[in-house]
Amino acid sequence: MWGGRFSGGPSAVMTEINASIGFDKRLWKQDIAGSKAHAAMVAKQGILTEADNAAIQSGLDQVAAEIEAGKLVENPALEDIHMHVEARLAELIGEPAKRLHVARSRNDQVATDFKLWVRDAIDQTDAALAALQAALVKRAEEHAETVMPGFTHLQVAQPVTLGHHLMAYYEMIRRDRGRFADCRKRLNESPLGAAALAGTSFPTDRFNTAAALGFDRPTANSLDSVSDRDFALEALAAAGMTGLHLSRFAEEIIIWASQPYKFISLPDAFSTGSSIMPQKRNPDAAELVRAKAGHLLGNFQRLAVVMKGLPLAYSKDMQEDKVPVFEAFDTLGLCLAATTGMVETLVFNAEPMRNAAASGFSTATDLADWLVRAAGVPFRDAHHITGNAVKLAEGKGVMLHELTLDELKAIDSRITDDVYSVLTVEASVASRTSYGGTAPVQVKGQIEAAKKDLGL
Ligand code: ARG
Repeated sequence: MWGGRFSGGPSAVMTEINASIGFDKRLWKQDIAGSKAHAAMVAKQGILTEADNAAIQSGLDQVAAEIEAGKLVENPALEDIHMHVEARLAELIGEPAKRLHVARSRNDQVATDFKLWVRDAIDQTDAALAALQAALVKRAEEHAETVMPGFTHLQVAQPVTLGHHLMAYYEMIRRDRGRFADCRKRLNESPLGAAALAGTSFPTDRFNTAAALGFDRPTANSLDSVSDRDFALEALAAAGMTGLHLSRFAEEIIIWASQPYKFISLPDAFSTGSSIMPQKRNPDAAELVRAKAGHLLGNFQRLAVVMKGLPLAYSKDMQEDKVPVFEAFDTLGLCLAATTGMVETLVFNAEPMRNAAASGFSTATDLADWLVRAAGVPFRDAHHITGNAVKLAEGKGVMLHELTLDELKAIDSRITDDVYSVLTVEASVASRTSYGGTAPVQVKGQIEAAKKDLGL
């Protein structure tokens, strides 16, 4: 392909370190689409004859059909997918294949192919994220009134509803989708036609190929076009953030499934047993999602370090951009499928959740708020009075609502019988009606809005 000025061939090691076909074969569809758009455009511009274009178009269709059928013959001497497609095209149609590589270079070709691949991956990821959101909304709707403990510092803090807790993850995934959409928008400029780095002397129409490949416009600077990998980095950053979110949920599933909690039972489909302890049911899927988030975050770092300090324009370092991206989207797809599967099938145990929600004097804030509201006590004083009530209850080994009115009055005479109406966990959650709060009426409102957003 480039042997004109060489007299000797590359060493075996050179061939091995140089070859990317082992991984960039995954770009075959995008490569063929890019070549078809390019050939059609150069023919339209009179740079290629219509007869050559026709031969190239049908030849490329045939190459596509062969690769689809698993008939790609890998040859490390042909380096990458671009050369493999072109070489096979030459075997099939002869001379016209050699005219295809006019007014372009592998540098703009690979940038185009890779952008198209990342764009597809983003679209698939978005669909998987939407499916996870739909699963979360469905379970949240079932449990809009189910009370569970809300934690801070992993200490029981205030009662919340399970629906509210699940909808918190809905919000995280909503932001993740926003990040991918944002990345897609910025990505969607076509580098094709930037050629090696400087543009071309042929009368090409880059707007034509951009439109044919579904890009919004061509990139504006040919140097930037072939050296930019921001789109891959942004996609990896978004994937890392999503992985981070999934790992937090996975961690909660692991905690909730443990015997001291018993908030959930894991379905057989997403647990494994132990070869030595017959009673075990392990949350392996959740643990692996938690772990794989590390790979996702690492892959951003991996590519960022490859790109760091590279001069303009193309350097072969950039061939190493693909593996982290392929791996990240494979991993993310698997993690999303596992998480959605778990959300759909987890069994929530309302009783242990409610018991835990009532523990740890979780309605103490409600008592303090009541003192503010009903007795006009300043919040700081109410906080102190409530602290005394908690101390008394703790000493007696009872819950706050189990203290007698006399006992409460001895702490502060302004307390009346009415206080008991706020001391149960159900009353506590029902009272938190502020926008975005945990009251079932609020949570149901959020769920309705989410369903509308998702088109459910
Ligand atoms: N396989 C190469 C890559 O992935 C294609 C670009 C080759 N360009 C070059 N100037 N050698 O980056």
